Amino acid sequence: MWATARRVTAGLAAAAALFTGVQAIAKVSRGGRYLYTDDGNRFYIKGVAYQPQGDVVASSDNAFGEPSTFTDPLANDTACSRDLPYLQQLGVNTVRVYSVNSSLNHDSCMHALSGANIYVIIDLSLPLNGSFDRNAPAWTTSLLDQYITTIDAFSGYDNVLAYNVGNEVVIAANGTGTAAFIKAAARDVKAYLASKSYNALVGYAAIDGTPTWRDPLANYLSCDPSSSNSGSTALDLYGLNNYEWCGDSTYQASYAGTNGDYAGYNIPAYFSEFGCVTSGESRTFQEVSAIYSSPMTDVWSGGLAFSYFPASSSAGQFGLVTIDGNSVTPSTDFNNLKTQYGSVSPPNSPSSSSAGSTQYPSCPGQNDTFLASTTLPPTPSDAECGCMAGALSCRFTPPSSNDTATVGALLNYGCSLLGQAGLSCNDIAANGSTGTYGRASFCDPETKLSYVMSQYYESQNKNQQACSFGGNGTVHSTSASASAVASSCIANPSATFTPSAPASATGGSSTGGSGSSGSNHSGALSGFSLDSRAIFGVGLMIVVSAFGGIATLA
Ligand SMILES: *[C@@H]1O[C@H](CO)[C@@H](O)[C@H](O)[C@H]1NC(C)=O
Ligand SMILES: *[C@@H]1O[C@H](CO)[C@@H](O)[C@H](O)[C@H]1NC(C)=O
Ligand SMILES: *[C@@H]1O[C@H](CO)[C@@H](O)[C@H](O)[C@H]1NC(C)=O
Ligand SMILES: *[C@@H]1O[C@H](CO)[C@@H](O)[C@H](O)[C@H]1NC(C)=O
Ligand SMILES: *[C@@H]1O[C@H](CO)[C@@H](O)[C@H](O)[C@H]1NC(C)=O
Ligand SMILES: *[C@@H]1O[C@H](CO)[C@@H](O)[C@H](O)[C@H]1NC(C)=O
Ligand SMILES: *[C@@H]1O[C@H](CO)[C@@H](O)[C@H](O)[C@H]1NC(C)=O
Ligand SMILES: *[C@@H]1O[C@H](CO)[C@@H](O)[C@H](O)[C@H]1NC(C)=O
Ligand SMILES: *[C@@H]1O[C@H](CO)[C@@H](O)[C@H](O)[C@H]1NC(C)=O
Repeated sequence: MWATARRVTAGLAAAAALFTGVQAIAKVSRGGRYLYTDDGNRFYIKGVAYQPQGDVVASSDNAFGEPSTFTDPLANDTACSRDLPYLQQLGVNTVRVYSVNSSLNHDSCMHALSGANIYVIIDLSLPLNGSFDRNAPAWTTSLLDQYITTIDAFSGYDNVLAYNVGNEVVIAANGTGTAAFIKAAARDVKAYLASKSYNALVGYAAIDGTPTWRDPLANYLSCDPSSSNSGSTALDLYGLNNYEWCGDSTYQASYAGTNGDYAGYNIPAYFSEFGCVTSGESRTFQEVSAIYSSPMTDVWSGGLAFSYFPASSSAGQFGLVTIDGNSVTPSTDFNNLKTQYGSVSPPNSPSSSSAGSTQYPSCPGQNDTFLASTTLPPTPSDAECGCMAGALSCRFTPPSSNDTATVGALLNYGCSLLGQAGLSCNDIAANGSTGTYGRASFCDPETKLSYVMSQYYESQNKNQQACSFGGNGTVHSTSASASAVASSCIANPSATFTPSAPASATGGSSTGGSGSSGSNHSGALSGFSLDSRAIFGVGLMIVVSAFGGIATLA
């Protein structure tokens, strides 16, 4: 309802723009392996990352300096108005935003950017539990609902170029199995956008790892496992966070290898971050002339410099401006990037008519360095998980609504108890390498926990004490066993379908209670991914998260 109102507002604004003679921003679409504007010209992303850095908690398991908080840069009219002239000076046509808050109003910033012919690429992830968990990946109702709620909040704007379903989720060969969940997210988000006739593209931003797994991952995310060439599970737009060109370099010394690796790539691709920092030197951004000329333009549709706002990592300081209240001071880097962006003229070829339709090859095979199965996780179903949550015998009812450690820690504990009782957590476990997804694996963490607690309670002959979990469980009188409830509520556990918007704007579980968790994650300088608390694996698997061990619970 809220989303509909938002669309109407934006629609009126667009109509008003027509009447006042202002040219609306052009629609950008995928054509073959390139991007084109409506008039048939090739579209190159000439952009900058646009998000203030969140709070980073330094720790050994946060090597990427991923933040645990965020500031939505599209929700503050004052800040957007302050920055817009600088974005225009820089000559960008796109900004990338890593996390937004779907409950805030974005009209002012989005309209201002659109009026300045600036597109927005929106990452759907949020810090902590709002991203894929690298240690225990799952494609769940709560994550899908978060993604859809964000899409609905932005669907009325004409300048959303793409939605990213993840950033640097896979960071090593041993994590490539997680790609199955990314592909499922792309499939479901793509289906949702199509069902609403929204034309934004679906993207992913990859870390630049060794080609032995980076390249198969790229091919997997753009392949068609059914060999039907439908592309229903393929990304529309692949991003590579690439920092290969540092300082005074050359195409041959920096990009030639990567460009060769992607030579035949089937979908549009761009550098979702670029701009290597070498300590103590300002950045000259000479790489821009390479990125926007042949042979790079045969593969890439431009890129985004990292970052408008100050952002630091162990590599150095990436900001292009410094900000003090309402005043912006551009750095030498800013001026250098502005000069470079101002002097590019990428080729307007091939023409849109000769670009053809996008071709979707079959998927890369599995081996020791590339683990992802082509059997993808199913589409998460709120209705089915809600059905289950409301019929279980022992339900998670947290005493405190803000104890974020509870769900993951209790899952570990519950699974260990099931193991001791000769049972397993297989029904809630998902494995993208084996392509096996437990019947309830797509449910939100709270519902999974209630399921595990119910199984344990029932295994102990419904001894009331076995449902206590230190005061976190409540007995409900039911005759059906947990597994019978799961089979009845989730009758077809491998179903895929077009998802719909969650019933409430908050989405999530019907068990109420606290959210799953939060923790340290992964992802790049700016990206997020992971929640090592809501962890569980297969079988007797017990993974003790960094923050709450079984020891403290037992
Ligand atoms: C909006 O941005 C301005 C300028 O940085 C800042 O002073 C203000 O506190 C921000 N407002 C909110 C609600 O964050
Ligand atoms: C979004 O903003 C609302 C209102 O300020 C706040 O209550 C909520 O926590 C925010 N959500 C996220 C995910 O930051
Ligand atoms: C991958 O290997 C690294 C160490 O090389 C390890 O820290 C990490 O936990 C492993 N990840 C997975 C998913 O096995
Ligand atoms: C592993 O599989 C990937 C993807 O199919 C392939 O690119 C790579 O060459 C294979 N590696 C080995 C060592 O066979
Ligand atoms: C909720 O969280 C806040 C901030 O971490 C903390 O100060 C407060 O004590 C918590 N409340 C309860 C009931 O746990
Ligand atoms: C139950 O939850 C509370 C906080 O919500 C926690 O302090 C307590 O340790 C939990 N009990 C068990 C057995 O996990
Ligand atoms: C993350 O946790 C918060 C509360 O801590 C909850 O509201 C939200 O639904 C959770 N998000 C996901 C995707 O699980
Ligand atoms: C990250 O991990 C460290 C220790 O590993 C911990 O002290 C810190 O509180 C964690 N941060 C968050 C946001 O949970
Ligand atoms: C997936 O299954 C494989 C093979 O059994 C196993 O090695 C791997 O640890 C599992 N991954 C997860 C995330 O449970």
